[in-house]
Amino acid sequence: MRRADRGNFLIFGAPTLIALWFVWSYVLRYSNLDPGALGIYEPRREWLFAHLAGGTAALLLGPLQLWLGLNYRGMLLHRILGVAYVLGVAVGGAAAFYLAIHTDFGWVAGTGFFAMALAWVFATTLAVVAICRRLIQQHQEWMIRSYVVTFSFVTFRILIDIFNLASIGTTVEQITAASWMCWSAPLLIAECILQGRKVFAPLHSPQESVTDADASFIPAELEPGQGS
Ligand code: HEM
Repeated sequence: MRRADRGNFLIFGAPTLIALWFVWSYVLRYSNLDPGALGIYEPRREWLFAHLAGGTAALLLGPLQLWLGLNYRGMLLHRILGVAYVLGVAVGGAAAFYLAIHTDFGWVAGTGFFAMALAWVFATTLAVVAICRRLIQQHQEWMIRSYVVTFSFVTFRILIDIFNLASIGTTVEQITAASWMCWSAPLLIAECILQGRKVFAPLHSPQESVTDADASFIPAELEPGQGS
């Protein structure tokens, strides 16, 4: 596979396929309106439906948005879909706060979901503020973080399936562990990649690692030849 094709598959193809699988397996089952089909979500059905509508929009639009934005293609379409993505996060996120506070799986899982919703809203808000201020690279980075959190509920379900296959823990333990792991670990990995690309980027010349401006902040005792 060519490098460009590989990039397109990683940014657009793979997340879209996995997101479609998630929507088919875990979201559409709530479209069955038979009494009892909603299970524990029956008392908060409106919140669940709002959450699923916003979450599904963000989950499915995200890969296309990242692909358009990172390749500087179809910028008008990118802006229109961007508004839809942000609305999806706003509606899905507001409902996520409610669902987190009213979860049946205990306060530790509740705070995990609540912190995940905060990360979702903060990352998306910072991405929007960055693009309003024309900070393109900051916008791209915060959008990547935002989508990593959007995708976390897919990771949540995959983690629960793995715990079940490996017969690890009770249902409450599995949900509690996954509510924290599903977004914090992917965000850490994404951050290592985003910052690692800068740290390991080739330097143009040996002098560029310390500029004159930086050097003025180096204390005299740490200057080459001044220390012990
Ligand atoms: C990214 C931030 C998100 C947060 C903080 C969040 C939070 C939550 C919470 C607290 C619940 C209820 C859990 C419970 O008490 O049983 C829930 C349920 C659910 N969420 Fe999200 N969610 C997020 C994103 C998404 C996305 C993007 C989707 C995709 C459509 C989604 C789909 C679902 C589904 C299908 C359920 C029902 C439970 C299940 O069948 O797995 N969520 N979510």
